[in-house]
Amino acid sequence: MDNKKIPVILDGDPGHDDAIAWIIAAAQECFDIRAITTVAGNQTLDKVTYNARSIAALLDLDVEVAKGRELPLCSELITAPAFHGESGLDGADLPEPVKEESKLSAVEVMAKVLSESDEKVTIVATGPQTNVAALLLCHPELKDKIALIATMGGGLVNGNRTALAEFNIAVDPEAAYIVYHSGVPIQMSGLDVCEKAYITPEEWEKIRQMEGPVAEAVSKWLDFYFIHLKDLGWKGANMYDPCAVLSLAYPEIFTIREMNVDIDLSGEYTRGMTLADFRGFNKTNCKAVMDVDREKFVELIIKACEKYSKEVHHG
Ligand code: BDR
Ligand code: CA
Repeated sequence: MDNKKIPVILDGDPGHDDAIAWIIAAAQECFDIRAITTVAGNQTLDKVTYNARSIAALLDLDVEVAKGRELPLCSELITAPAFHGESGLDGADLPEPVKEESKLSAVEVMAKVLSESDEKVTIVATGPQTNVAALLLCHPELKDKIALIATMGGGLVNGNRTALAEFNIAVDPEAAYIVYHSGVPIQMSGLDVCEKAYITPEEWEKIRQMEGPVAEAVSKWLDFYFIHLKDLGWKGANMYDPCAVLSLAYPEIFTIREMNVDIDLSGEYTRGMTLADFRGFNKTNCKAVMDVDREKFVELIIKACEKYSKEVHHG
């Protein structure tokens, strides 16, 4: 085993940008993907789990895919069909899943990966943080085995689901509260960076021109995903979840600032808000990713897609 690799568990709700984030993650030499776990968010749990298994088939990824929490800890589930369609991943035909889903739950698989690992493991959480919170509650003894929780979630200035709450946190604010109060290191890619991290239709045209099923799926997903984003006035498709993956692999192209972030649970207008303490008086609990060199970011996405297309070309 190459011990320079970063062992990761990919936890998400695919979801177009989750899917692209996982495709990017699987293309990086620096990651060792130990498991994929799913959580209800962009669509219901059954749909996102099916999508996760199809993505694993598309990438020929032989890792355990485990189903996580069906509902947020305390709230009704909110899904996002306007962005992700009825399947949660509309726009491209995917291969039938090859591997059955794990007989273990997401929390059990996460606990197994953590306890069996000699090194600490990073959890890349690109959906609501329900599974991660459940893991922390059920297995506090494993906290020390988590190197980092690299999340896409929140926004220090604005929200998207509501004026102040970003979707992943808005779906399950109590879960995010548990995560942010756990003492486990967090790297937060929120809307601050993600809304700057877009790819334009001209840029993903390069992906469309590549050979192979991965490039085809990515370009078709981007077409679909952009329909709604364009209506909202965005210049391109915001690559929210890829920020969580790429800020881990290439921190040098991002601006990252340490601070204390809390989660509001009770405000009439602010429930699910990530509240940043910019004063710097309190001890910090998170590295907040604030900005990115967008051109380099897009180059990395294109390069990841190219890797799959070269594999097709060279057999
Ligand atoms: C987040 O919400 C979901 O729709 C996306 O997959 C992303 O994780 C952006 O707010
Ligand atoms: Ca997501």
